[in-house]
Amino acid sequence: MRIRIFSSPRAAARALAACFAREVAANPRLVIGLPTGRTPIPLYTELSVLARTRRIDLSQTTTFNLDEFVGIPRDHPGSYRRFMQAHLFDQLASRPRRIHFLNGTAKDLARECRRYERAIARAGGIDLQLLGLGANGHVGFNEPAAALHADTHAIRLTRSTRRANAGLFGGRTDAVPEQALSMGMATILHARHVILLATGGEKARCVAGMLNGTVTPRLPASFLQLHRHAEVWLDRAAASRLTRR
Ligand code: GLP
Repeated sequence: MRIRIFSSPRAAARALAACFAREVAANPRLVIGLPTGRTPIPLYTELSVLARTRRIDLSQTTTFNLDEFVGIPRDHPGSYRRFMQAHLFDQLASRPRRIHFLNGTAKDLARECRRYERAIARAGGIDLQLLGLGANGHVGFNEPAAALHADTHAIRLTRSTRRANAGLFGGRTDAVPEQALSMGMATILHARHVILLATGGEKARCVAGMLNGTVTPRLPASFLQLHRHAEVWLDRAAASRLTRR
């Protein structure tokens, strides 16, 4: 896996936004997989700036968000859809041609997951999948477990993940839904190009495990070692525990 280390989260975000701009210039109809979380916020800010100054045009792209909470409506302040609207889509003069989200209020969750897989296939698959990294090693909402789901699925969230997402729910862990929908590991690994972005010292242990350790469902991000075109973009703090590069 290619590893890139930057002096700061801002430097990583700038370089990543420039990388997005190059990819979209080469293929204006790029299909992009997007994460939420604190980590990609500087990237979304940079992309908004590039869009305002016409250095990137996302109007022909298609996006698929990785995951969504179960049981909260799309306009709920804690929903990932609202997060994406606030941090990226509402900031763009011309939004992506198609924006896809999982619907966490669907009556039949298994059916909703199948619908999402079909929509990704119909779009021709994901060209560029951006990922964050959960402090426990999750990607999307693929939580550490004895076995992982391949396809998009409903999952029960760990207490630590609910705590990590409490900021979206007024700081109250108990207010964070207990369940979520997420692309599966195969959905993610089928993307043609995967970039995982991790910044901050609290991710350092997971980053080291993911890159220097074995491939294990106990650290879902370690599955990226199996991908032909996966990159890990880090700031110095997140890279601080790497033993070999
Ligand atoms: C959530 C999301 C993940 C994200 C993770 C990390 O749990 N489901 O997709 O990668 O948070 O969040 P942060 O970037 O805030 O550390």
